Amino acid sequence: MAAAQNEGAWNSYGKGLSIWDSFSRRQGKIKGGGKPTIACDFYHRYKGDLLLAKALGFSVFRFSISWARVLPEGMGRVNREGIAFYHRVIDECLKLGLRPYVTLYHWDMPTALEKEGGWTSHFMLKWFSRFVTLCAEEYGDKVKDWIVLNEPFGFTSLGYMLGRHAPGRTGLSNFLPAIHHAALAQAEGGRLIRQLVPGAHIGTTYSCSEVIPYTNNPEDIQAAKRLDILMNRLFIEPALGRGYPREDFKFLEKLELHNRSWKYTERMTFNFDFIGIQNYFPIVVRYNPLIPIVQASEVRASTRGVPSTAMGWEINPDSFYRILKRFWLYGGVKEIIVSESGAAFKDVVVNGAVNDQARIEYYQGYLLAMLRAKKEGVNIKGFFAWTLMDNFEWAAGYDARFGLIHVDFATQLRTIKSSGYWFRDFLQNK
Ligand code: NOJ
Repeated sequence: MAAAQNEGAWNSYGKGLSIWDSFSRRQGKIKGGGKPTIACDFYHRYKGDLLLAKALGFSVFRFSISWARVLPEGMGRVNREGIAFYHRVIDECLKLGLRPYVTLYHWDMPTALEKEGGWTSHFMLKWFSRFVTLCAEEYGDKVKDWIVLNEPFGFTSLGYMLGRHAPGRTGLSNFLPAIHHAALAQAEGGRLIRQLVPGAHIGTTYSCSEVIPYTNNPEDIQAAKRLDILMNRLFIEPALGRGYPREDFKFLEKLELHNRSWKYTERMTFNFDFIGIQNYFPIVVRYNPLIPIVQASEVRASTRGVPSTAMGWEINPDSFYRILKRFWLYGGVKEIIVSESGAAFKDVVVNGAVNDQARIEYYQGYLLAMLRAKKEGVNIKGFFAWTLMDNFEWAAGYDARFGLIHVDFATQLRTIKSSGYWFRDFLQNK
């Protein structure tokens, strides 16, 4: 889970504002007008929720630290109450035998830093280093598993190019520097943890989607290739020491410019212990000259008549299998952890139960695909279902339910869905 999606207590106990607190207040930005003010109230209910994770048979718990909760202005003054909260969560995890996997940046930058430029600013490296150092020094003796960034392509493209996510910036003049600073920060964060936490197991996560051309027409093939560079290669290749993907693609030439003039290829490299793969769906595209930069547009699952989730995302375990194989075949990846996969459906509570057979089938398919890749030699060490409980799904608000546990956001009542019980039985019989 992620702080902004679950914790609530958005302006209590000394927490500063995050870009999601601010962005969600802007008219029309969040479906249904939802805000992450209370969310799942995890801040107050973490004990019960961790107990539920334990009861479903999980042995790990992934969560993120809200930067604005521990450093309300992003830099400077530490909020001891915020620090203490994560100590309580970590201690509770350890008590229950849940191994804490801590994500450092899961999209909720302090608003104070966004005002100074956020990810577009080169100072971001200094700010981020301060935050990482604080977390490592505080929690490093208890937490060994660290995830530096969550989906850098996700937050830079949606938040800095398309304006659909916080902070709502658009255009290349925001997107390009945000990419570059995120690519530097992922490596810098890794180095800091390595230095400060003995025995750390360090990773970072990538959203990835197989990009499939709609037809064999060369224009569609080229369109798919362009999108693939952005969606799947933009951040892992610098981390592996290859710099940005070098292709005949004008947009990337600009990145190369950043790269050459700032001579940062080496600084963008870090030898991660694991790579977190986050895969939900493949994407099918065709050439569309009207779309800037990538000149590609998606042919939706509904148009193609293939199975999909309530988000309109295609359900395709074979594609997940191919993604796992592909990231392994990069060569420099030591270990893969599937740090997210899951599905949203229109769940309803009927007589105190949620029968979400479609989600069970999703997990059956994706877990089998993962096992197939593992049997064929891909070093996959774990799978995190996304996610334990329904929560604030960013721009989709509270409408998109991804949980194994249903949350009634009016009463905070939790109801374990059939998929939650299925997971429990699956883990018991492993
Ligand atoms: C990606 C993000 O990391 C997570 O926060 C989000 O809820 C899921 N995928 C589903 O969209």
